[in-house]
Amino acid sequence: MTLYTSQRRLIVTLGVLVFAAASVGPAQEVRIGNLTGHAAAGKKEYRRFCLGCHGPDGDGLGENAQWIDPKPRDFTAAVFKCRSTPTGTLPTDDDLYHSIERGFATTNMPSWLPLTGQVRANLVAYIKTFSTRWSEGHGAPIVIPPETPHTVESILRGRALFQKMECWKCHGPAGRGDGPSAMTLTDSKDHPIMPHNFSDGSRFKCGQTNEDLYRVFMTGVDGTPMPSFADNLKPDEAWDLVHFLRTLQPLKTPEAAVWKPWFSTHANTLKPIGPETEQH
Ligand code: HEC
Ligand code: HEC
Repeated sequence: MTLYTSQRRLIVTLGVLVFAAASVGPAQEVRIGNLTGHAAAGKKEYRRFCLGCHGPDGDGLGENAQWIDPKPRDFTAAVFKCRSTPTGTLPTDDDLYHSIERGFATTNMPSWLPLTGQVRANLVAYIKTFSTRWSEGHGAPIVIPPETPHTVESILRGRALFQKMECWKCHGPAGRGDGPSAMTLTDSKDHPIMPHNFSDGSRFKCGQTNEDLYRVFMTGVDGTPMPSFADNLKPDEAWDLVHFLRTLQPLKTPEAAVWKPWFSTHANTLKPIGPETEQH
């Protein structure tokens, strides 16, 4: 009889353990390539490397946050800038992993490339424990078709889109981040935020390749006024825009190599970018 009771107790205890493991399991682990990130390990690493800015509770209110602009991300809000997924959705684990690896150019968020891949994977798992929003799952990554040729014609079409989509209103006619709306912009936490300045050669936050650039304006920089143009641009048009944006950078891009010689002899044939002025 006593044996029977203790057996029952054991079965109940095992049952509770299995249930507990199942209910917290998936949220505490991530798969990135052939790595499995564990939140428990990530917690220790977070406290060592990330706490000073992102805060013990992941709300972005670490002790250094007061000195920093833009502010560290609030993981309890679970709104992320760099995603392969549509605007308004959560990023993939790989997106977070690469953000941590790359760091955010022009901000205090360093690149954590010196940490091992395993540590970065653990950190991704831990960051996801700060919000229950993760139970909804991430968005489906957008499809990026093969790049079209970066011809003068493509760059000219991209230039027309930069005018038509009103990118210039924030980024300025020459991409200097000085458009008429630039000084009035705030992020979702009411902090002033400046549009990217293409002309100072600074790196993009969400990656440096043409695909990264395509992705950024087709998914938007969530939590900022930088919108997604996925509903307004066809894939070919998005590539045209990428090609034009590359000519705004003071870099030796393949696009600039095609554009500069053409522009030096045709500049006067182009209508300036900016408010359409009525001719009377
Ligand atoms: C010196 C301060 C600082 C430290 C330390 C720091 N961060 Fe950040 N982090 C920031 C700032 C600032 C931003 C926001 C940048 C922006 O909004 O442009 C940020 C943004 C992020 C984001 C947001 C990505 C997105 O797409 O929105 C992630 C993820 C992140 N940090 C992870 C980490 C992890 C993990 C660590 C520790 C290994 C860490 N950070 C350490 C300052 C810091
Ligand atoms: C309402 C203002 C606004 C408009 C319109 C706008 N942007 Fe932005 N854009 C921003 C802001 C603000 C940022 C900076 C976000 C940040 O640093 O977190 C930004 C950032 C960017 C970046 C840099 C992303 C990175 O990874 O650092 C690119 C590229 C970009 N915008 C392209 C465009 C293009 C192309 C258009 C038009 C199709 C456009 N933007 C229209 C406000 C705007």
